[in-house]
Amino acid sequence: METKRYTKESIDQAAEQLKNGEVVAFPTETVYGLGACAENEAAVKKVYLAKGRPSDNPLIVHIAKPEDILSYTDDFSLVTKTLMDTFWPGPLTIILPLKNQRLSKTVTGGLDTCAFRMPDKALTLQLLEKTGPLVGPSANTSGKPSPTTFDHVYHDLAGKVTGILDGGECQVGVESTVIDLSNEEEIVILRPGKIGVEELQQVVDVPVVYDQTILGEKGIPKAPGMKYRHYSPTTPVVMVEKKDFAQAIKHYGKEKVALLASDDVIAQFPNEKAFSLGNTLQEAAQRLFAGLRTCDEWGVETILAEAFPIEEESAGIQRAYMNRLEKAAGGNQFLA
Ligand code: TXA
Ligand code: MG
Repeated sequence: METKRYTKESIDQAAEQLKNGEVVAFPTETVYGLGACAENEAAVKKVYLAKGRPSDNPLIVHIAKPEDILSYTDDFSLVTKTLMDTFWPGPLTIILPLKNQRLSKTVTGGLDTCAFRMPDKALTLQLLEKTGPLVGPSANTSGKPSPTTFDHVYHDLAGKVTGILDGGECQVGVESTVIDLSNEEEIVILRPGKIGVEELQQVVDVPVVYDQTILGEKGIPKAPGMKYRHYSPTTPVVMVEKKDFAQAIKHYGKEKVALLASDDVIAQFPNEKAFSLGNTLQEAAQRLFAGLRTCDEWGVETILAEAFPIEEESAGIQRAYMNRLEKAAGGNQFLA
């Protein structure tokens, strides 16, 4: 299959393909998603196949406007409504109870809940208006870093999907915050993203907490995706704090490493292969996945990636960055 590039000008063709049951990737403000019409089970199955994704890992349903969730859930409670009003369109995914079976088990992984999100990307909202709700897992091969450009998607999925809608570079760079509202006593963040506890807590009264364990009752992961190895390039990744780079380079061998670090770190080691994470946590999060992919192509033995240790008051974006980096590194940290 030849994978087509669609743009703003050819968005109608992309929508037609989706409505015909084909799989087309689309941009969002976080990462690219792999789209299929959410109510077309055969199309959704193609998404799992193209990604090589385990079938018990449920998908996020992307919608054009908040009211669209009413086809699937009755939960339009004050808390849900407040969160949607405040953060949609935006990088917040809300898990809600389902009221009917319009979404197949292939979408929900057999759970009686579904994850919904309205992305903050005009081009994609236009697409969703034309197609109706689309599933959209990150458009990478399962286990690889999520894609933040057209080229990343093409690299992983060319020949396996009908098309890719090119919307340029994603601005946030890490996937949405996933929250579970099924417990009335507290809101649990199952996957950290740009929107953190502080932002959420400003608009709701119930306590908002980060899920510490990620494991639900009986050891079943609450967000099934969190149990898999993720975001991993082929080259081993080691987390290194800013102050420890000189020692880490010595330890792993000057010729054998690539640096994925802030500009101030890179400036200290002008002779090393390096990919810049910029100067701020926002930039670091935006570039992390692109950096992992690029360093992986350099054929080095180890990627030394900068760790920004979490403190109690750390913002959502920093927690999201560290969560993805820890997974990419399999928890490997350089201890000086
Ligand atoms: O930013 C994003 O969320 C991107 C863009 C494309 O929208 N999408 C994305 O999808 O990251 P995906 O499939 O790669 O990650 C969805 C996460 C997984 O960890 C999955 O297990 C969890 O959400 N999830 C989905 N439905 C769920 C449900 N009903 N209950 C618990 N967790 C769920
Ligand atoms: Mg993913």
